[in-house]
Amino acid sequence: MNKENNKIHIAIFASGAGSNAQKIIDYFKNHSHVSIALIVCNKPEAGVLTIAAKEVIPTLLIEKERFFRGDAYIDILKEYQISFIVLAGFLWKIPQALVVAYPDKIVNIHPALLPKYGGKGMYGHFVHEAVIANAEKESGITIHFVNENFDEGTHIFQATCPVLPDDTPDSLAERIHKLEHTHFPKVIESVL
Ligand code: GRF
Repeated sequence: MNKENNKIHIAIFASGAGSNAQKIIDYFKNHSHVSIALIVCNKPEAGVLTIAAKEVIPTLLIEKERFFRGDAYIDILKEYQISFIVLAGFLWKIPQALVVAYPDKIVNIHPALLPKYGGKGMYGHFVHEAVIANAEKESGITIHFVNENFDEGTHIFQATCPVLPDDTPDSLAERIHKLEHTHFPKVIESVL
């Protein structure tokens, strides 16, 4: 076995710009026992695929039928020896077959303080718009294990930031992104 094969292989599931994916990739570059082995994505135009190409990390473009009604790509994940999954801006629900195949081995990051502002349809700017509309004084991030319901698994970590009186969804999103970038890679490492 070579050195790569002895490492914990992580798959990052992402469908957006991939700024969190980039931070995680940077953090685990040359790590002694963790390797980012695969980027899984459901949008051919997603920025995260450009990042994967630049970082020379294999990608898997998935489609709905096989993900939800087929084998959920578990065979391919096993081929890449994936033992841990990180959701970083992945909007599809995780099918039960995948949750069962990776018990307590899938984590997600949510840009709010769950259980508030979670669930179906609560993602990206919708979250920040709702937080501002409700005049919350505080928002933040939640990193949690994934079960078959949106945003409902056991919490692992939360961090907070203020919501300022003149915040827009964009300015709040920027503050939250910074929190995510600071904490997510380290929290992943601690869970591993
Ligand atoms: C993050 O805000 C994360 O909380 C949410 O999706 C966003 C992904 O952003 N789940 P990026 O693609 O990592 O920049």
